[in-house]
Amino acid sequence: MSTLIILSSLLLLLRLPLHHAAIFDIINHCPYTVWAAAIPGGGRKLDSGENWTINVNARMDEGRIWARTGCTFNVSGHGNCQTGDCNSLLECQTYGRPPNTLARFTLNGFNNLDFIDISLAEGFNVPMDFSPAAGCDQRIRCAADINGECPTELSTVGGCNDPCTVFKTDEYCCYSGYNCGPSNYSNFFKGLCPDVFSYPMDDQTSSTFTCIGGTDYKVVFCPTTNLSPSPPGKNNFNFFNF
Ligand SMILES: *[C@@H]1O[C@H](CO)[C@@H](O)[C@H](O)[C@H]1NC(C)=O
Ligand SMILES: *[C@@H]1O[C@H](CO)[C@@H](O)[C@H](O)[C@H]1NC(C)=O
Ligand SMILES: *[C@@H]1O[C@H](CO)[C@@H](O)[C@H](O)[C@H]1NC(C)=O
Repeated sequence: MSTLIILSSLLLLLRLPLHHAAIFDIINHCPYTVWAAAIPGGGRKLDSGENWTINVNARMDEGRIWARTGCTFNVSGHGNCQTGDCNSLLECQTYGRPPNTLARFTLNGFNNLDFIDISLAEGFNVPMDFSPAAGCDQRIRCAADINGECPTELSTVGGCNDPCTVFKTDEYCCYSGYNCGPSNYSNFFKGLCPDVFSYPMDDQTSSTFTCIGGTDYKVVFCPTTNLSPSPPGKNNFNFFNF
């Protein structure tokens, strides 16, 4: 009996490093409310200045975090959002509807590495910074005014759609996979935010970043907005730094 307990405790100890959860701090630095969403994780209302911490199993493929805007939900968590809506639920169980700026991650993938990116392949709604909390020297940021410069044909309430969502053609959606290159629209996104993954077959070697498995992360919505009152005459932007 006691041997069994010792044995199973040992096994538990040995398994522990593999199952260490990664911590994601999600911070709303926008001057407006967003409804943060995470797969895995669910979703919640995040007022300006609030943060939400989630634990993600350290072995996770194709996780994503995004902001939803213009939402109304009833007391049982049913409703709708103008951008990023996930099947009308406050606590998401599925990915969101474009346009939505995406923080995407695979944890402990190939060679025990984490792979992270910001993707605009499903449009843009809210500026974002995606970076390790500590211990890994990577930072991905897309803070440009993409909504303000969005081509008319992609522009929609609360965001800037990706061309696949609007035109639904192989050229933009890469349905057939091969032979699908950048377009003037993906170049528009990449021009304003050079670090992002910009269309379905974009080159991952230049837009995906790696950290050692077990790293914790921070996702900041509207990273360059300074929320604290600034002294008169001081510039309000690019003031906030971590
Ligand atoms: C998150 O919010 C808590 C409580 O509101 C606060 O104490 C903490 O400093 C915040 N963390 C960050 C990273 O903003
Ligand atoms: C919330 O909305 C859902 C979907 O419309 C509905 O089924 C549910 O009854 C509503 N709950 C309340 C408390 O109004
Ligand atoms: C992109 O290309 C399409 C098709 O060639 C053209 O109709 C559209 O005006 C272009 N848009 C921009 C923003 O250059």
